[in-house]
Amino acid sequence: SAAEKGGYASFMLKEIAEQPRAVADTLLGRIDGSGALSLDEVRIPPKALREADKVVIVACGTAFHAGLIAKYAIEHWTRIPCEVELASEFRHRDPILDPQTLVIAVSQSGETMDTLMALRHAREQGARVLAICNTNGSTIPRESDAVLYTHAGPEVAVASTKAFLTQLVACYLVALYLAQVRGAKYGDEIRAVVRDLGAIARSVERVLDTMEPVRELARTLAHKNTVLFLGRHVGYPVALEGALKLKELAYMHAEGFAAGELKHGPIALVEDDLPVVVVVPSPRGRSVLHDKMVSNIQEIRARGARTIVIAEEGDDEVVPYADHLILVPATPTLLQPLVTTVPLQVFACELATARGNEVDQPRNLAKSVTVE
Ligand code: AGP
Repeated sequence: SAAEKGGYASFMLKEIAEQPRAVADTLLGRIDGSGALSLDEVRIPPKALREADKVVIVACGTAFHAGLIAKYAIEHWTRIPCEVELASEFRHRDPILDPQTLVIAVSQSGETMDTLMALRHAREQGARVLAICNTNGSTIPRESDAVLYTHAGPEVAVASTKAFLTQLVACYLVALYLAQVRGAKYGDEIRAVVRDLGAIARSVERVLDTMEPVRELARTLAHKNTVLFLGRHVGYPVALEGALKLKELAYMHAEGFAAGELKHGPIALVEDDLPVVVVVPSPRGRSVLHDKMVSNIQEIRARGARTIVIAEEGDDEVVPYADHLILVPATPTLLQPLVTTVPLQVFACELATARGNEVDQPRNLAKSVTVE
């Protein structure tokens, strides 16, 4: 009903707007005054976490994209090798698992059958399983060794938005906790990241406050057949997520690519006036990534692409190559997906609406996929 949507036209819009709160709630009580992580709820003994020699993340759809981003954070902060796999592919390839493997199953609903079957298989091989889940008492956390709940609140729209942002927060918390338990060598960086996480809800709110031009742009693209998304590093899974949102809501052909792969094939798709969304890494710190992305934008633009550039405030270098510029607050590279994903959600939602689609209930889809 209209009342349940709290004045918004759809649950999706309501849930997009709830993201600052969902992010803050997922952090609440998990970082103490000294900046240390306190995740007592993760009932896996610290000794087991110290001895883990591999992390394997299994998930589907949007939750899989959260897992892809988690890999960057886990490997960088903990130096533990991390694999991410689609839950539906996982057990059929006879994966290598043992008691030193920490498996992380990410699921909003906690009822996704592919993810459940993957975690059952992992436990049969003796691996420990930590669930990251948004639904209290659902099957996936019940069958796992431990659970870290995301506190997004109920997500009703089929397209995942606030659950995704809180899955990212939970993944960062797990990565930081692993680093803490194992005596990470990036102490200073980790302290800085913990501080930045505390400010992230405010950044998400600022992004939400500046979405009107994104909505306008989306409406002008309603007649297009294809939209491409490019990213590098953690921006690559963000590009995949932007494309998934557009497929499921706008029923358009949308694809995400690693920008470095362009020259290995996809650049052949670029033609006059093709909309290409580019997620630009922070110009600070890892500027090599930024420089490479700027050349990628020039390359596609020279071939006629209409560039829709998502970049950090103060990134002057991208301005000349952006047909449309969407600015997000400066955010440390690993945390950037928390701000760069939001415009892509708004973009897909608005474009779908402009095409006359029902955004809360896209055709052919179910909120939770309880069959394999
Ligand atoms: C996201 O917008 C999708 N509707 C879908 O990909 C979803 O993320 C996937 O089915 C996994 O669901 P879960 O998080 O409940 O396991």
